[in-house]
Amino acid sequence: MKKLKLLVLGTSFFATTCLAGDGFEIYKKYCSSCHLSEITMEKMKEIENTIKAGKKPPIKAPPFPEVSARIKYFYPNKEDFIKFVVDYITNPSAEKAKCLPMALQKFGVMPPIGKNMTDEEKVAVANWLYDNYNTKWEKFPMGKRGQCKHHHNHEHMHEHRGE
Ligand code: HEC
Repeated sequence: MKKLKLLVLGTSFFATTCLAGDGFEIYKKYCSSCHLSEITMEKMKEIENTIKAGKKPPIKAPPFPEVSARIKYFYPNKEDFIKFVVDYITNPSAEKAKCLPMALQKFGVMPPIGKNMTDEEKVAVANWLYDNYNTKWEKFPMGKRGQCKHHHNHEHMHEHRGE
């Protein structure tokens, strides 16, 4: 874990300058089977309504524009964001997840995709996930109300208060 932390800090600069273009390739290889890289707000609303109506969503996971905004909402700092994503994709769990409880319920917890990736690939894709999107969480249909998961997540409550 310590080693990973150093690597993340050490390579975030490298990743920004040298690997930015590779992030999308890594996304296509490892993430695109579940996560959409682009989606319109209209489509997001449609999906939210489908879920609210108790029907099965037409996608396997939250789209990346939403995921990026959501994680940035908790970790605005890029290094913290990258650390979270690299760790999450390797060891995902419902406790760590920043997704809305509704999303976890509908989609289930993500499989540990990162276990099959190199640390460089993980950092590069996390870097891309941060840089490629700039829509704020509040702009998403789900972001407009009660976005915080206040139960059993003390770590986040502190972070949120500090923002
Ligand atoms: C087999 C399907 C699948 C693949 C492949 C996949 N994911 Fe996910 N991912 C999910 C699902 C389902 C969720 C929502 C539940 C959750 O948060 O665990 C999710 C959620 C996430 C989240 C939000 C975690 C949170 O805080 O709740 C991040 C970040 C993420 N994925 C990154 C990635 C990256 C990066 C890749 C590619 C390297 C990837 N995922 C590949 C299914 C997948």
